[in-house]
This record gives sequence, C-alpha cells and structure tokens, in this order.
Amino acid sequence: MYEFTDDCLIHIEEIDNEHRQLFSLLNESIAMVAESADVTAVSKNLVSKLKDYAINHFAHEEAYMERIHDPELRLQKREHAAFAEKINSFKLDTTSPEAAKDSLNELLKYLVRWLYRHILSSDMMIGKMESNDPFAFTDRFKTGIELVDDEHRTLFEIIKETNDLICTELLHDKYDKIMELLAKLRDYTEFHFHDEEALMERIGYPGLEAQKHAHAAFVERLVDIDLDTLDNIDNDQQAYLLDLINFLVGWLTNHILGSDMKIGEYVRSNNITL
Ligand SMILES: [Fe+2]
Ligand SMILES: [Fe+2]
Ligand SMILES: [Fe+2]
Repeated sequence: MYEFTDDCLIHIEEIDNEHRQLFSLLNESIAMVAESADVTAVSKNLVSKLKDYAINHFAHEEAYMERIHDPELRLQKREHAAFAEKINSFKLDTTSPEAAKDSLNELLKYLVRWLYRHILSSDMMIGKMESNDPFAFTDRFKTGIELVDDEHRTLFEIIKETNDLICTELLHDKYDKIMELLAKLRDYTEFHFHDEEALMERIGYPGLEAQKHAHAAFVERLVDIDLDTLDNIDNDQQAYLLDLINFLVGWLTNHILGSDMKIGEYVRSNNITL
C-alpha cells in the first residue's frame, strides 16, 4: 500500500491537501474493492469520481505552475495527460465477477503507484526550478506599483545583460562594454532609488528612512566596484565579475521581496491612488 506520508509533502499547502485527498480516495477505493464480491455495479461511478478529482487537481497544479512560470510545466502537462488517458481507456473486464474485481483492482493499484512516483519525482520540483533564471522578473517581484515594477524590471534587464556579456567568450572590447554596463547600472539604480524615495515621501510611507539607508548602502557598494582591477579579463576577473553579478541580483531580489513589497501593501491597505 502506498501511504501519503511526510515525504510526499511538497510544501505548497493547496497542492499537498489535494494530493492527500487523492491518496485517500484511491486507498478507500482499493479497500472497497477488496471487500466487495462484485464491483460491476460500482465501478463506473468510482472510476469517474477519481477521474474528476484528478483532472481538477491537475488543472489547479498547472495553473499554479503557470503563475510562477515554472519551467517544468510542459513536462507535467504531458505526465498528467498520460494519467488521464490511462483512466479514460479503462474497460472493466465483465466476463466474471472475479475478473471484474481483478481488472478494477489492477487499475487502482496502477494509479496509486503512478501518483506516488509522480509526486516524489515531478511535483517535488514545483517551485524549485525558478532559481534557474535568477534574472527573470517574475510576478512574485511585483509590488503592484507600476512605476516601481517597471524600473525594477529594467534593473533586472541591465544585470542580465551584464551577466550575458561576462559569459561571452572572446569579445575584443568586452572589458569596455562591461564597464559601460556597470556604469549604466549604477546610474539607473540611483535614478530608480530617487523615484522610489520620492514616491514614498509623497504617500507618507512610514518606512522611508529605513529604505533610504538600504538604498545608500547599495549605491555605495556599486560605487566601490573596483573597475581598475579589471584591466584584463582572465579567469580571475571572470570569477570576480560573476560573484559581483550574484551579489547584485541577490541584493535586489532580497530588497524587493523584503522591503519594496511593503510599499505596495501600504498603498493598497490605505487605498492610496497613485
Ligand atoms: Fe503533477
Ligand atoms: Fe526598488
Ligand atoms: Fe527600495
């Protein structure tokens, strides 16, 4: 018997609850089949109930993955379709009550085994692949304030552009271009912080001072980037630059999720029209 144990949890509550429910439905059905002498009468109902629940659940799961731009969505859709196809193509063997029972049992066992494996191998990865593209400005970064979101998107784009350039091999003026991009990033960051602070000021945001400190510290780090040491792009420089990019995207991600998000919440909870 396959049990829904803690190792099946993917830690996304709505999905975990549905998986748990799907498991109990399957296990209850298996128990019921074991107790009945003849399943011919109940089979149709039971199978269609399972199918409805599973298809509903897959739709929820796929919608969730779509929302977070999960790169494994296509793969999951294929696997879910295979499960649905297995249920759809099921024909109860009606040659005898024993044959009927065996065939239904076989289907249920297949489904519970499939589900168990699917959760452990595929569903387990939901939401975990996002870090594949640390430069993607996804919905989870949106504060809901258009100006702020647009500028954050641009910051992500400049960092991504810089990263791509660092990773490009043998470009004769690579060094100059990286310098240009880092200068552009610095300018744009200052421009954005200025806009964001003006907005916080205008709406009387109580966290303005803390934001100013955080912004100033980040700008200082940007000014401190020692571009003079980068006169040759060799392996060490490459590592230095990649570490730098990591820091920039990490700081920005953290700042947006931890601090800038709260500006959006403040705007909404105070019904401020911008
Ligand atoms: Fe799934
Ligand atoms: Fe910001
Ligand atoms: Fe900020």
